[in-house]
Amino acid sequence: MARILITSAIPYINGIKHLGNLVGSQLPADLFARYMRGRGNEVLFLCATDEHGTPAELAAAKAGKPVAAYCAEMHAVQAGIAEGFRLSFDHFGRSSSPQNHRLTQHFAGVLDARGLIREGETEQMYSVTDGRFLPDRYIEGTCPNCGFTSARGDQCDNCTKQLDPTDLINPRSVISGSTDLELRKTKHLYLRQSLMRDELRSWIKSKTDWPVLTTSIALKWLDDGEGLQDRGITRDLDWGIPVQKGDQPWPGMEGKVFYVWFDAPIEYIACSQEWVDAGKGTDWERWWRTDKGADDVTYYQFMGKDNVPFHTLSFPVTLLGSGEPWKMVDYLKSFNYLNYDGGQFSTSRGRGVFMDQALSILPSDYWRWWLLSHAPESADSEFTWENFQVSVNKDLADVLGNFVSRVTKFARSKFGETVPEGGAFGAQEEALIVDLTARVREYERLMDAIEVRKAAAELRAIWVAGNEYLQSAAPWSVVKTDPAQAEAIVRFGLNLIRLYAVLSRPFIPDAAETMMTALGSTDWGWPEDVGAALRHLAPGHGFAVPENLFRKITDEERAEWQVRFAGTRD
Ligand code: MF3
Ligand code: ZN
Repeated sequence: MARILITSAIPYINGIKHLGNLVGSQLPADLFARYMRGRGNEVLFLCATDEHGTPAELAAAKAGKPVAAYCAEMHAVQAGIAEGFRLSFDHFGRSSSPQNHRLTQHFAGVLDARGLIREGETEQMYSVTDGRFLPDRYIEGTCPNCGFTSARGDQCDNCTKQLDPTDLINPRSVISGSTDLELRKTKHLYLRQSLMRDELRSWIKSKTDWPVLTTSIALKWLDDGEGLQDRGITRDLDWGIPVQKGDQPWPGMEGKVFYVWFDAPIEYIACSQEWVDAGKGTDWERWWRTDKGADDVTYYQFMGKDNVPFHTLSFPVTLLGSGEPWKMVDYLKSFNYLNYDGGQFSTSRGRGVFMDQALSILPSDYWRWWLLSHAPESADSEFTWENFQVSVNKDLADVLGNFVSRVTKFARSKFGETVPEGGAFGAQEEALIVDLTARVREYERLMDAIEVRKAAAELRAIWVAGNEYLQSAAPWSVVKTDPAQAEAIVRFGLNLIRLYAVLSRPFIPDAAETMMTALGSTDWGWPEDVGAALRHLAPGHGFAVPENLFRKITDEERAEWQVRFAGTRD
């Protein structure tokens, strides 16, 4: 039994995520966690909400709520939706937790003690009326490029030009509307990342099994020079983790907080402390400290490609730079983007399907299956309603659902609701066992390698093989001449359903549960020996005909959804 640590990039707290976000980290991480548990390994699967930074403050202000209350509320909302998608986190934490405050301040303290932090002075916009420094996105004004009157201090949303707050004409505070702004000097802390360049390089070079997408991004940033510049790790904000060295104040840094990208990945570790403090686990150090048993752990991270630099450079600088024996990532799985129907998903324009909306129109398995079987691995991929309809109707309803319903209904009508006896398996069954053994081994290989799409294709092929077998074995004809053989076919078919439940569970957990329950079994043991697995349910074992596993999506529904999600949501 291996010990597997899995983290998904932690989603920002501001608002409900769309399906593109889901398929880029949380969902494939869940697939892998479920698979690893299914194989009998000890798994710790962690995720959390990313709660600091200006987006959280702005979203709270827009909702008219204090930011702490807003975050608490949105955390509960995101946790509920995660449950709706059957994301099987061992803990869904919060980057604003006291545990993360302590750990983040601890890291800052040791990095400082080891000479990896320096102070620096910059100039920043200060709002006299608001009595605070304003982050770039808290300043609006007229774009010098196109004349748009609501351009932000970091970018103009009209002409997309990157801006500096000082470029804006008639700049004003987003908080109060005040134009009483001035440039003031402010001090910040900088992480001296370049001092770690050699250590980082040899660490990345040692990861010979990483996907090209991951290492190429990492090495580009490392060699670019730009990527390893000293990075500001503090901000002049109220909401965040106060800048301290461990539990000691940091002279000159009063009133400042750590930058969200400094504390967010530390939450991976703090989350395991939250997991223990919530009474769900007993020992977090054996997952994270190589001096306390974590050298046995294999650690997998899941994220979208835009997150890769933070996980291959900045966060490793924090961990390596501390000089403490922290567990580092062993395998980093990154994803390209999922596009929506000829364009991009857009949170601001409400374009595309958001997680709550998806669950309101169809159960999670439909989405899980489509998203995972079309995961944007080697390139960006695209969600279209046509494609979604075809996949659901063919793969889930026609292939898997139909197989389960034909076998169980025929069995009940001819032999009642117990597994029939019949004779020994014949040549067709033995041939299928050989074929399925090869396919199951290939499925395992692909799942071990986190080749999500290919694994889905192999699983579908396993379902198809059962359908083809049933078609050619034709128990409905055989029963007329050789009832014993028909019984053997049915016994084999019922066992195939149980095999499908076990293999399919990481992708479609609810349907798997329905299949297993219908077969009156609770044995989820992995089919190490496919032949034995197909003899598992013995004659006389009771079963029931389950409800239809999947329904088809009609053309009318497809057309209606296409219009509904084209983009209007505020
Ligand atoms: N919130 C970030 C995003 O959605 C991801 C943070 S991942 C972590 O892009 F490393 F910071 F944890
Ligand atoms: Zn502009």
